[in-house]
Amino acid sequence: MSQTHRAVAIDGPAASGKSTVAKRLAESLGLVMVNSGAMYRAVTWQVLQEGIDPKNTAAVLEAMSRMRIDCDVKNSLSTISINDRLLTTEIRSAGVNEHVSKVASIPEVRDSLVTMQRDYLGEYDVVMEGRDIGSVVFPDTPFKLYISASEEVRAARRAKEGETDAVAKRDAEDSKRKASPLKVAEGSIVIDSSDLTIEDTVDAAREALIKLGWED
Ligand code: DC
Repeated sequence: MSQTHRAVAIDGPAASGKSTVAKRLAESLGLVMVNSGAMYRAVTWQVLQEGIDPKNTAAVLEAMSRMRIDCDVKNSLSTISINDRLLTTEIRSAGVNEHVSKVASIPEVRDSLVTMQRDYLGEYDVVMEGRDIGSVVFPDTPFKLYISASEEVRAARRAKEGETDAVAKRDAEDSKRKASPLKVAEGSIVIDSSDLTIEDTVDAAREALIKLGWED
């Protein structure tokens, strides 16, 4: 890990509220917010665009080898482009929700994207959210949070956002996979957001970071 830049790692299951917390923390602490899930989603979107079966690992890797993936920052938020197309709302589609866990279970896909995730730290102080940020991407950072929420609460949040997303199925796949499964990284402080408002969850996250030694 870079000696000069700091990383806050936020992991947790789908729709646990970690993106919102990461965004708020980034704003208040002056960090760049990196959404690592967007990278897995972008690769999945491109695979589907090319009509490739996400279960065909060899075909996914062949397609990925042809993708020009650019990770950048705009307004303190990570961005991702593939072959010069900036990807935003399209990577939240039902098709991507359905297939992203499969693509994210491929070790070679993860290796490439983890390298790009770590590269952010060469340039920025970051708060990065995902599934393996505290366990694999930045295992040495002392600033690790794990945000959870009950299955019912998470399904309701997604439905409210108007997304078709079988969060329980996706979490099961993300937790059971061999390569970097979703888990509570050693040293993380766990925050259950089921009964908390966004404000309360952000406050709890800030307090947790201070407990972990964060200094402004
Ligand atoms: O955070 P999200 O729900 O947008 O992530 C989409 C998928 O990407 C998620 O189901 C699993 C995968 N993912 C991952 O495997 N590792 C990460 N660090 C982030 C996301």
